[in-house]
Amino acid sequence: MDAAEVPLKIPTHVGLIMDGNGRWATARGLPRLAGHRAGVENLRGVITAGIKFGIKYLTFYAFSTENWNRPRDEVFGIMDLLAEFIDKETIPLHKEGVRILHIGHLDRLPPSLVDKINYAIDLTKKNRRITVQLAFNYGGRDEITAAVRKIVASGVKPENVTEALISRNLFTAGIPDPDLIIRTSGEMRTSNFLMWQSAYAEWVFPSTYWPDFNEDVFREMLREYSRRDRRFGGLSSK
Ligand code: IPE
Ligand code: IPE
Ligand code: MG
Repeated sequence: MDAAEVPLKIPTHVGLIMDGNGRWATARGLPRLAGHRAGVENLRGVITAGIKFGIKYLTFYAFSTENWNRPRDEVFGIMDLLAEFIDKETIPLHKEGVRILHIGHLDRLPPSLVDKINYAIDLTKKNRRITVQLAFNYGGRDEITAAVRKIVASGVKPENVTEALISRNLFTAGIPDPDLIIRTSGEMRTSNFLMWQSAYAEWVFPSTYWPDFNEDVFREMLREYSRRDRRFGGLSSK
């Protein structure tokens, strides 16, 4: 069968590692922050495409626990851009039926940004058309460490520690594991994204820099996903 004819399988949950903003800007002779701006401006269109495809959960990796290692101006520039995004898009997204969630630690973030994130979560909490998780100050190892701390503090007996208990103590408690993870810009690594949850995710690595990622590239990635044979350790269903 020709690749284009593969019936499109729609994953329930897609994770997106939004990489390549800096290179997008550098290629245009612009400062890195211009790339981050273009990247944040691209979010809305990708959410709209996700709704159109019928995807129920999208998780966007916007700032990792390791991104604090960047120059201060870049770090706080990114924070400002996220705050602007929430100011501008929360109400329109709410009207579209989008539920907004955050994964990661809020504690090191500027209080004004934390307030905005909490406002967006609260306003949209009853929406179910699509759930958008913003991974901001998020790291997979940090998340697992925090879960272990909570479990130990609860005094649970070692024999009662199960995979389900660990999952319930992650930021993503109650959210299905990602089926597909898309990392833009051609880099092929996890960079600490959804370490636990991605155990059986399919990964794709389009060369497109994040600000240029759009519905067409998204559809191509869904086609690639549709051709994969997910075996989960068992035998092929084909
Ligand atoms: C991704 O783009 C955004 C963040 C990590 C915050 P980059 O800033 O990593 O862009 P490149 O990888 O330098 O091109
Ligand atoms: C991963 O991108 C984090 C985000 C996209 C938020 P990075 O650009 O930070 O990852 P590395 O450093 O290239 O692995
Ligand atoms: Mg990068």
